[in-house]
Amino acid sequence: MTKKQLNIGLIGYGFMGRAHSNAFLQAGRFFDLPYQVNLKAVCARNPERVKSFADNWGYESIESDWRKLVERPDIDLIDIASPNDTHAEIAIAAAKAGKMVMCEKPLGRTAAEAKTMVEAVEAANVPNMVWYNYRRVPAVTLIKQLLEDGRFGRIFHYRAKFLQDWTISQDLPQGGEGLWRLDVSVAGSGVTGDLLAHNIDTAMWLNGPITEVSAVTETFIKERQHNLTGKVEPVGIDDASLFLARFENGSLATFEATRYARGHKALYTLEINGEHCSAFWDLHDLHRLQYFDHRDQSIVRGWRNIHVSDGDQPYLKHWWVPGLQIGYEHTFTHQFADFLLAAGEGKASAPTFRDGLATDLVTDAVLKSAKTRQWEPVAK
Ligand SMILES: NC(=O)c1ccc[n+]([C@@H]2O[C@H](COP(=O)([O-])OP(=O)(O)OC[C@H]3O[C@@H](n4cnc5c(N)ncnc54)[C@H](O)[C@@H]3O)[C@@H](O)[C@H]2O)c1
Repeated sequence: MTKKQLNIGLIGYGFMGRAHSNAFLQAGRFFDLPYQVNLKAVCARNPERVKSFADNWGYESIESDWRKLVERPDIDLIDIASPNDTHAEIAIAAAKAGKMVMCEKPLGRTAAEAKTMVEAVEAANVPNMVWYNYRRVPAVTLIKQLLEDGRFGRIFHYRAKFLQDWTISQDLPQGGEGLWRLDVSVAGSGVTGDLLAHNIDTAMWLNGPITEVSAVTETFIKERQHNLTGKVEPVGIDDASLFLARFENGSLATFEATRYARGHKALYTLEINGEHCSAFWDLHDLHRLQYFDHRDQSIVRGWRNIHVSDGDQPYLKHWWVPGLQIGYEHTFTHQFADFLLAAGEGKASAPTFRDGLATDLVTDAVLKSAKTRQWEPVAK
């Protein structure tokens, strides 16, 4: 069967630009996709550096203004891997130009911004997706399957953390390349939008909508030198964010994210406790699923430590032989493959922009609750 050609225009060549490019190159080799993917152009503001990225990854051409990229008739899909303050403008322009759009998370800096993006892709009726990649870790996808099988019974608790330690130094500046996450005008928020957004997306995918939250946030270091102005300026982001939540299904949750947990680099953990079963997953050991089933015979009952690497477990038949694990980068390949498989059939692949908006509505409620010191409902 001849495949349709799909020309990609990537914006941003940083951490995510690399992760996505790797996925673009690998997906068609491991999955039978309806499209032939072509790395047509990459865009970022520094032409020399973008040229060197293009040469390394095999992009055919470069742009230094994303508007030019979006206008190009030879581009079918715009992939946004640039900082959060660029997402809305680019996504809306790309949708208006009739392109498929994939956007990094968080979708918008606020839910209001995300809403304009949802309206644009839905009005243009273009395939769209947000890169909440942790849904596609095979062990996490397996939890979803086990839940859908009905094994857990009623759900009581959900517990999630995302811990890092890279901003503890008072001398770390804010703003500019590499440090835009500390500048609230670019990032929108601190760990709430950067880290908790991942936890929230996975949680709502596994356990349904969150209806209300009660949060506390803290900015431990109140002033930092700004890389772009050279001046010491107030820090507007949240350094740590913790919240309690209620899900629509009646279960309760705790969420915690910080960049001040010394010794932790990217400790994303989640646990879900149901009437019959519990499951626990840890990003530092991402191919393992800890699973407990109370219905096991009591003499052998205990936590199972499942090495998720067998061909009948999610995604794994596409990779090596049973027993051999895969890693972080594969989550992006899975997500991209799922997106193209769905697009080929004219279907949407979650998380869509609408799903990304749902997460932004929760992060907005978290930040509001931290200010009001009240429980806040999550807007619909
Ligand atoms: N899904 C995930 O797990 C994950 C992980 C990290 C980052 N992210 C998200 O990905 C996005 C990018 O983060 P990153 O860590 O790759 O950042 P980064 O700082 O490593 O790279 C950002 C890139 O965007 C480019 N850029 C900045 N402004 C631009 C503009 N106006 N026009 C064109 N290019 C521009 C920069 O030159 C750079 O190449 C953010 O939204 C972030 O939240 C998601």
